[in-house]
Amino acid sequence: MTRIAIIGGGNIGEALASGLVADTSGPAAGISAQDVIVVDPTAARLDHLHERYGVATTDDAVEAATEADIVVVAVKPYVVASVLDQISATLDANDTETVVVSVAAGVTLATIEASLAAGVPVVRVMPNTPMLVGKGMSAVVGGRFARAEQVEAVRAMMEAVGAAVVVGEKDMDAVTAVSGSGPAYIFLVAEAMVEAGVQLGLARPVAEQLAGATIEGAAAMLVAGEKSAFELRGNVTSPGGTTAAAVRGLEENGIRKAFYQAMEACARRSAELGRPRSDED
Ligand SMILES: NC(=O)c1ccc[n+]([C@@H]2O[C@H](COP(=O)([O-])OP(=O)(O)OC[C@H]3O[C@@H](n4cnc5c(N)ncnc54)[C@H](OP(=O)(O)O)[C@@H]3O)[C@@H](O)[C@H]2O)c1
Repeated sequence: MTRIAIIGGGNIGEALASGLVADTSGPAAGISAQDVIVVDPTAARLDHLHERYGVATTDDAVEAATEADIVVVAVKPYVVASVLDQISATLDANDTETVVVSVAAGVTLATIEASLAAGVPVVRVMPNTPMLVGKGMSAVVGGRFARAEQVEAVRAMMEAVGAAVVVGEKDMDAVTAVSGSGPAYIFLVAEAMVEAGVQLGLARPVAEQLAGATIEGAAAMLVAGEKSAFELRGNVTSPGGTTAAAVRGLEENGIRKAFYQAMEACARRSAELGRPRSDED
């Protein structure tokens, strides 16, 4: 039995809890609702999580961390230090070797390790919101005290809510720019496609359905992995045709430059976020 404490029952904490409980045949199949405890300061939130997923709940992080195998810290980056401070002595006193997992954007392994007793294994994860529908993409990196099998256990845990890959910590700001914040770029593209479709005379619900299903279909082809994005786009771009005209319009308006600049800004912001008193992500 693996006992998992999730500190912070917001978007990410709820998505993880729901995935762990729902996973009956995957890597988290052995984890039942009774093995998962979620900590949050808001009583209404705890009631919702208990009623919807059957997980245990508490507003006491120390109680949840006691004898937990894995503690997932899923609070905003600026709250991480105070949570670690609260549970550090408990982790040290646990009979079991508790692995601390942080999903906080920008908070480095060194910062987390410095807040805990020497030797506590720490794993940093950058997930994304499609984990709410079981289609998340998580990048996982182990700290200096985390053994390979502990990093693998966390990677497998994250597979309960999508795909998960192990990377190096130097990659985390770039990972944040690609997959962590990436869903928002795609939502923005969808929004723009819908508005343009409406301008072209489509009813809004029809434009929304066309844009959403198109993004889902294109993503499925990409994830199938047989062809690169470059090849897939080439295959649907007939010389002198309609798609070629549209792609030229996007290129002339600087779509690549916009992405380079946007993602550089995202990675820079990720690097800044671990600093004390940051208050947004
Ligand atoms: N959302 C994303 O797309 C995304 C993607 C990748 C990584 N992340 C990371 O995931 C983390 C959580 O993000 P989120 O979107 O899930 O945030 P969120 O929805 O605000 O969830 C955080 C939850 O933690 C609760 N909380 C605050 N202080 C607490 C404490 N001391 N002990 C226990 N719970 C506490 C909050 O309650 P109150 O609201 O009552 O304060 C809230 O319910 C962040 O560090 C973020 O960087 C998020």
